[in-house]
Amino acid sequence: MLTGGGDCPGLNAVIRAVVRKGVNRHGHQIVGYRDGWKGVLEDESMALDIENTSGLLPRGGTILGSSRTNPFKEENGVERVKENLAASNIDALIAIGGEDTLGVAEKLHSEGVKVVGVPKTIDNDLNATDFTFGFNTAVQICTDAIDRLHTTAESHNRVLVVEVMGRHAGWIATYSGIAGGADAILVPERPFDLDEVCDHIRRRHGRGRAFSIVVVAEGATPKEGDEITAAEQTDAFGHVRLGGIGVALEGEIEERTGFETRVTILGHIQRGGTPTAFDRVLATRFGIAAIDAVDDGDFGKMVALRGTDIVRATLSEAVGTLKTLDAELYETAEVFFG
Ligand code: F6P
Repeated sequence: MLTGGGDCPGLNAVIRAVVRKGVNRHGHQIVGYRDGWKGVLEDESMALDIENTSGLLPRGGTILGSSRTNPFKEENGVERVKENLAASNIDALIAIGGEDTLGVAEKLHSEGVKVVGVPKTIDNDLNATDFTFGFNTAVQICTDAIDRLHTTAESHNRVLVVEVMGRHAGWIATYSGIAGGADAILVPERPFDLDEVCDHIRRRHGRGRAFSIVVVAEGATPKEGDEITAAEQTDAFGHVRLGGIGVALEGEIEERTGFETRVTILGHIQRGGTPTAFDRVLATRFGIAAIDAVDDGDFGKMVALRGTDIVRATLSEAVGTLKTLDAELYETAEVFFG
């Protein structure tokens, strides 16, 4: 098993569930590769047993470590993966990750590697599953932050801009914005018109509400302009580091409206700490379903949540296209703007 990409609350709960059912019910032996695909490439692993995976359920992060290493970008990467798996007598691999990690899993599956995927990302932008684990926790963290920002915004008659994660999808921004009662929510799927945002704020303040909360996803862009990046270089999957839209909005909103504006960037706090009860249960169900799929020899699949059921989707359904924000959900949020 391996955990790849950005860490996410609930990873340890998946690991615990895979080991508990794999060892106790199916009689498997399980190893964990360190730091995602990097561990498979460099053959660095640790034995996982009931003992060293107990107590993991509420623990954030991943005991295996994670990385954004892409074997398809490494010299002889695919051959090295295959050789190392064969040399360690690995029958099957459970890859726990998002679009990138599972994209690698899907390609390796088409090269003959026996792999099952588990959908993980706080962004909730993975196709073929209604929810990924980690998302619920991130939304709760953002909602708590927005609640706290409300009281200070109100006390100082300020506009508070809250920048949340969400590279290509505005799920976190929209869920936490609705839950926290945001006055505007800006998401990557809908390039925004800053004049319109300022109009919302002015209209609201004109009605005697002297404060506003604007939630912005890090990947949101103005109608005219590009996404704002924090660094030039890209990772092994071609992603730039985003960040900066909140700061840009702070200056622009204050200048255009004349209302004092402050920005809060929630950053990696959204990925840290203990998972919510929802994510603990989802991660546990995913872990159990993944080891069952391995035991059934049903490879090239990703376990997924559909409604209240855990099902098996193909890895190819899951990767390639991102699950962007539901238009109806955003329209619900819009009712409360301005
Ligand atoms: O993919 C999850 C995510 O948290 C994104 O929302 C964010 O853009 C990215 O990871 C940040 O990655 P890193 O921690 O590598 O800077």
